[in-house]
Amino acid sequence: MKGIILAGGTGTRLYPLTRVTNKHLLPIGKEPMIYHSLKQLTSADITSILVVTSKEHMGDVVNLLGSGEEFGCDLTYKVQEKAGGIAQALALAENFAKGESIAVILGDNIFEYTIKPYKDNFLKQKDGARVLLKEVGDPERYGIAALDEYHVLSIEEKPNNPKTNFAVVGMYFYDNKVFSIIKNLKPSGRGELEITSVNNAYIKLNELKYDVVKGKWTDAGTFESINEANEILNNNNNEILT
Ligand code: DAU
Repeated sequence: MKGIILAGGTGTRLYPLTRVTNKHLLPIGKEPMIYHSLKQLTSADITSILVVTSKEHMGDVVNLLGSGEEFGCDLTYKVQEKAGGIAQALALAENFAKGESIAVILGDNIFEYTIKPYKDNFLKQKDGARVLLKEVGDPERYGIAALDEYHVLSIEEKPNNPKTNFAVVGMYFYDNKVFSIIKNLKPSGRGELEITSVNNAYIKLNELKYDVVKGKWTDAGTFESINEANEILNNNNNEILT
């Protein structure tokens, strides 16, 4: 299985912090944010990793992470020319994936515990996709899942009237079909190729499974959530709990 860290986007919600640098290079606890994504993937024994980021900040990202040797992984890089959405960034990974299944982490997502158990569950299901859910207090900000006892029935991106409080967090496992699914997507109202559309396509195929995230989780895309991310990682000295 290969790993992909999506670290493009514009980070406008964090202006002026992100005016001259990339969101994923900002400090969380004692380390740059992107270290957490790398550590999460390697904690799940995923060591062949592609980092996607914007042209403006690729130089800094490569200067920081290098070959990956320091982190016990092998890094490849790809430029996303324009912030066309999470699924558009993911499409850039097709050649890198070379037919294998993939674990995709959004570079601003912070988890208290390792993602390894979810990877192991995905490997047991053999194909399809697996998403992670977490109950949140501000569901309007996320992709939100409608659920029955066993299944995700549908996912709505940033709904005005959320059906539940279960956010689909930024860690996804996909088989190789994901790339043909993305090729058939149309841009959303905000002009992006949405990861939620990808996940809804797997629901239609009846191939989307889920786990609920253990421990704390947040993204770090707003001033409020960046504080929460700092709290999570400061508590554990930037270590990931197992
Ligand atoms: O954090 C979880 C949420 O992330 C999910 O619940 C949503 O379904 C999902 O759409 C996403 O929502 P956000 O509005 O928080 O996504 P944002 O635009 O902040 O992008 C999240 C990360 O994805 C960002 O840190 C870098 C990467 N990204 C994003 C875009 C738009 C890219 O690499 N390229 C892009 O073009």
